[in-house]
Amino acid sequence: MQWIRRFYASTIGKKVVMAVTGLLFTGFVVGHVSGNLLVYKSPQALNAYAAFLKGSAVVLWGVRLTLLASVALHAHAAYSLTLVSRRARPESYDQLDRQAGTWSARTMRWGGVLLLVFIVYHLLHFTVGSVHPSFSHTDVYTNVVTGFSVPAVAVFYIVAMLALAIHLHHGVWSLFQTLGINHPHTNRLRRVFATLLAGLVPLGFVAIVLGVVLGWVH
Ligand code: HEM
Repeated sequence: MQWIRRFYASTIGKKVVMAVTGLLFTGFVVGHVSGNLLVYKSPQALNAYAAFLKGSAVVLWGVRLTLLASVALHAHAAYSLTLVSRRARPESYDQLDRQAGTWSARTMRWGGVLLLVFIVYHLLHFTVGSVHPSFSHTDVYTNVVTGFSVPAVAVFYIVAMLALAIHLHHGVWSLFQTLGINHPHTNRLRRVFATLLAGLVPLGFVAIVLGVVLGWVH
């Protein structure tokens, strides 16, 4: 166990933790958007899918606890790396270099904070139901329709999906680098993959919100 602590204490250790947990979230959001797009098929299809996910308490809580631990680790590693880079930055750093170098770091940081706020709200909205106007534990389809019928909620989700697009784009690109997939031959493919993923996943989520707002899903 000592080696795990020593590994996590290093900069590369924290980056690997961010990459692995980031890969996990990426897999989760791809699955989540695919499943939720069943809203376009029928109310029965979405509700049956949601019921299937809750079929085994062991699997459900296994996934929930894994995601929770991953969020905590991802956020802690990001916070620690920020402190490390602040301490390491030389005073005489050129202003322009600093602006270019920190723009993506700052975007990731604030985008990450917004996503964290979004996830807490989202869980209270669609899983717990405490901030939902008329929550049902079995009718997920109706929860989605009534949930996005509140204009401020629809706008918040769309803004959060914009943050998700930016975070996924830079995150997917960087995680390959951290995991050692960084070569001129593969970098073009890496860029295309990151762009496609960062475009399609948030677009799929926004299509669900807009489906309700525009009355296609009712
Ligand atoms: C328009 C966008 C989204 C929609 C319509 C949506 C829909 C839903 C619904 C309906 C549930 C409850 C499922 C159920 O009770 O069976 C849920 C749960 C959840 N969503 Fe989303 N989601 C969206 C975006 C996201 C994003 C971007 C993330 C992560 C970054 C996310 C993470 C989660 C998590 C962690 C749960 C809890 C799953 C559980 O019950 O254990 N969702 N979502």
